[in-house]
Amino acid sequence: MKPVKVGICGLGTVGGGTYNVLKRNAEEIARRAGRKIIIEEVGARRPNPDCDTKGTQITADIFAVARNPEIDIVIELIGGYDTARELVMTAIEHGKHVVTANKALIAEHGNEIFEAAQQKNVMVAFEAGVAGGIPVIKAIREGLSANRINWLAGIINGTGNFILTEMRDKGRDFADVLAEAQALGYAEADPTFDVEGIDAAHKLTILASLSFGIPLQFSKAYTEGISKITAEDVQYAEELGYRIKHLGISRRNEAGVELRVHPTMIPEKALIANVHGVMNAVLVDGDAVGQTMYYGAGAGAEPTASAVVADVIDVVRTLTADRDNRVPHLAFQPGELSDEPILPIEEVVSAYYLRLHAVEKPGVLAMVTGILSESGISIDAILQKETHEQLVPIIILTQEVKEQQMNEAIAKIEASADIDGTVTRIRVEHFEA
Ligand code: HSE
Repeated sequence: MKPVKVGICGLGTVGGGTYNVLKRNAEEIARRAGRKIIIEEVGARRPNPDCDTKGTQITADIFAVARNPEIDIVIELIGGYDTARELVMTAIEHGKHVVTANKALIAEHGNEIFEAAQQKNVMVAFEAGVAGGIPVIKAIREGLSANRINWLAGIINGTGNFILTEMRDKGRDFADVLAEAQALGYAEADPTFDVEGIDAAHKLTILASLSFGIPLQFSKAYTEGISKITAEDVQYAEELGYRIKHLGISRRNEAGVELRVHPTMIPEKALIANVHGVMNAVLVDGDAVGQTMYYGAGAGAEPTASAVVADVIDVVRTLTADRDNRVPHLAFQPGELSDEPILPIEEVVSAYYLRLHAVEKPGVLAMVTGILSESGISIDAILQKETHEQLVPIIILTQEVKEQQMNEAIAKIEASADIDGTVTRIRVEHFEA
């Protein structure tokens, strides 16, 4: 069969990895795809020292790649929003299939991109956009398609997990670990996307759509970052038998769909609490299968390239298949997406870890527990630490409560003259089967 020609736009960390994997494993890939896959052209402003591009046509004009009549599949690896969107739309307009690792693009413009792709009868594949090398999109979209999915939770930002792991294990400084993640090519161009949960929310938005058959709605995701996690909280979590992880959680209940990214305390024995460094993991609960977990490298050149190239092979296979039998972009048939609402964070129910500093005097603990009790919040565990400068640190684990109720209770506690500063809160999840 005639070889398939691809054009790679962007030769940075992931672009370079993709170039090298396509070249190195060309023979094995052809045996899988049923035909050769040739890199026809690369669009990049700068060479990548890790790639030997001798013999490959290189242009600085990525749009020339998207329009090149020789090319069947455009691989978009430039990242970002506007130019990437224009590039992908240009490729689609010119009848090219698209493979992308750009989660921001899919989470924010995916609805429009998929519609254009359908009209042009082309595929847009984006496995590499979520959890790097883990084939979790394929697992949810195809492997779990018999299930009604109840919820999913994931460590879906490698940089953030790398930072939390190094801080906990080695007591390293936040900024120092972040700089290392940047040097290793894990972090986003704007690393606040990693540490403030925006990157994870992009990925969660995609996973939620695939799991529940809802349109992509990134703007409704709740995000809270890890930059305010203190060594004190990490230590108290350990004492209580928990770990703090930055999780993306999406759960469907009768009222709607939760879509939230925030630091979360999870029991240390939970498998997902033991996912360290740049590794990612996604835990999915389906009504038939129960819980399944997908684990692997969440960032980095070749792990991400692994997913990009797998998508290329998938697209190559569909070139000769009936278009009605393609796997839909968002797992559900486009006309079958439902309009279940995304729930505001105030409506979300979870357990809580609270840390506060109270003035050391009789009755202060009773005052705090009294407020919680009046607000209908049950306490699971309570720790009182050593008094320091007349302030006593109090740590409380609560049972599940609606966020709105917890907000009201915290406001009352903070209003007390016997409480110093604000109350730190971390949501707690148990993920019991
Ligand atoms: N910055 C992302 C991360 C890259 O650290 O997970 C992979 O999407």
